Amino acid sequence: MNKALSIFIGVLISSSVFAQRDPNLGIIPAPVSITRASGNFELDKTTILVNQSIDGAKMTDLLNAFMVTKAGFALRETKITQPNQKAIILTSVGADQLPAEGYTIKVTPKQIVLTGKGAGLFYAVQSAMQMMPDKVADKITIPAVNINDYPRFAYRGTMLDVSRHFFPISFIKKYIDQLAYYKINTFHWHLTDDQGWRLEIKKYPKLTEIGSSRNGTIIGHYPGNGNYLTPVKGFYTQEEAKDIVKYAAAKYITVIPEIELPGHASAAIASYPELSCFPDRDTFISDKTPWAGSRKGKQVQQTWGVFDDIFVPSTNTFTMLNNILDEVIAVFPSKYIHIGGDEAPKTYWKESPFCQALMKEKGLKDEHELQSYFIQTIEKHVNAKGRSIIGWDEILEGGLAPNATVMSWRGEDGGIAAAQQNHDVIMTPGSMGLYIDHKQSNSPDEPVTIGGFAPYQKIYAYDPIPKVLTADQRKYIKGVQANMWTEYIKTSEKAENHAYPRILALAEIAWSPVERKDLKNFSEERLPVHLARLDKMNVNYWVPTPIGLSDKNLTGGEFTIDLKVPVRGGKIYYSIDLSRPSENAFLYTGPVKITVPKGEKRVLKTIVIAPSGRRSVTTETVLNNGAPDVTVDTKK
Ligand code: ACM
Repeated sequence: MNKALSIFIGVLISSSVFAQRDPNLGIIPAPVSITRASGNFELDKTTILVNQSIDGAKMTDLLNAFMVTKAGFALRETKITQPNQKAIILTSVGADQLPAEGYTIKVTPKQIVLTGKGAGLFYAVQSAMQMMPDKVADKITIPAVNINDYPRFAYRGTMLDVSRHFFPISFIKKYIDQLAYYKINTFHWHLTDDQGWRLEIKKYPKLTEIGSSRNGTIIGHYPGNGNYLTPVKGFYTQEEAKDIVKYAAAKYITVIPEIELPGHASAAIASYPELSCFPDRDTFISDKTPWAGSRKGKQVQQTWGVFDDIFVPSTNTFTMLNNILDEVIAVFPSKYIHIGGDEAPKTYWKESPFCQALMKEKGLKDEHELQSYFIQTIEKHVNAKGRSIIGWDEILEGGLAPNATVMSWRGEDGGIAAAQQNHDVIMTPGSMGLYIDHKQSNSPDEPVTIGGFAPYQKIYAYDPIPKVLTADQRKYIKGVQANMWTEYIKTSEKAENHAYPRILALAEIAWSPVERKDLKNFSEERLPVHLARLDKMNVNYWVPTPIGLSDKNLTGGEFTIDLKVPVRGGKIYYSIDLSRPSENAFLYTGPVKITVPKGEKRVLKTIVIAPSGRRSVTTETVLNNGAPDVTVDTKK
């Protein structure tokens, strides 16, 4: 061992004490209020489970399935309580007085009473499961508390792009399970794009016969260094989509389908070239990839970006899109249908004599107004079916469709402008960490991503209500969403790595009051417990780096490195000899004192290894005591 190193053993905190000490009782998202009462409820085999609620049967099943895993026994279910018998009671009495999706939990030494109806009772059960510490000597000890809880935002969403890469139904369900556990209530399913059409449309079978398959994908980061020639294909039948809708609804999650128009339409155009302004024109890849240029006929795109070949605003196109949307509406009962609207270059519309004549006929002064005409035509049809449209913030350009909800992704400006025009808004700005395809650390160990930097702390710091809005305008901010674009996410495992723990931070900003936000409590007390759960459930979450580690190089001669493990049951290993840490490096057991002689430097490297063996990236912190140059060859 290096002479300059000495180790102090830290105080180990046992898991049950850990949960007891957390003022949020381990619940993510943090409830509106938790007040302590005296005593504890001791849950054991004699506790009964009483359903007195209108939606209770499936909730008691859920709770009992959880009890079997958590405690190793199920509770006896009854309809009535026995005097002096310890009981968990699910009730809807008084639930009408609660806010939408709200619930209460009252824990006394005798009873745990969960009050709510529908989503509210379901969320009470999620919180009840999360607040139960591990069993000790056949008992689970739950502190007496009163919890009052309801969401800050009605819309709490995540978007998954299944066009750039296809994800199986089994993964979608596994993902929905976790969303529900964190009280996220909207799953936005990005079903169509340039690289694949993923939903069966019976009237237009070529959309999936042709549009659901591409012949290759770039290798590595855009513009790529070659092309995998393996086809990427897949689509969901309408029956499968209905099954997802039903599965999600049972967990109080609404599925919003997205059918992109008028841009990001290459897969549809490859299937039906008459949807293009120039049906006979070859596909043109206007990018820097080695295969940029023309490709014969209309092609499903094999690379990423924005493409000029967008839908022509003809009667035929509107008829086809309306027919497609009718089938979509029949599969998805959601109030909202997402119609895309983003990144539609106007090049082809400018070149097209048809589009120019149409603009003249309709009195449209530019191509942005033509896009607005396009969206408004679609909106009329969707509204006539009793539904509403959501579009990305480009739908503001050229005039907003009268009833549209705006999804603000290019920063907050679109959301602000829409709210100022009295339109509903969902905030999902990439610049604020809500693009969860971005990377989670600056380590070279990160897998290839689209770029950007969005650690979970950045999402956590975000407040979806822009300060510039007046009190009246703020009401139009209906919620917040995280988006997972999948250009660089080819597998379900990698999707999970991008999703967690960021989805947990999203849940807290979407649900909890701003005053309840507490990054330290979230990161250091609750997240480690939740990540340990995901670890056990074989969810491939991103393992955080050690808590307390400086993300900057440090100067000085004496350093005390005081760290916390970010996953309960995990271990931190470290080195200062430039080796890459693994189980063979020093095990961190408490604050470490490192002395660096004058004129020298050391590199502290760490890694976190979770109980499952999942690993964090390796971190590197230079500890410099006046060495002439802080650059150290850390690759040795
Ligand atoms: C988007 O990221 N193009 C909405």
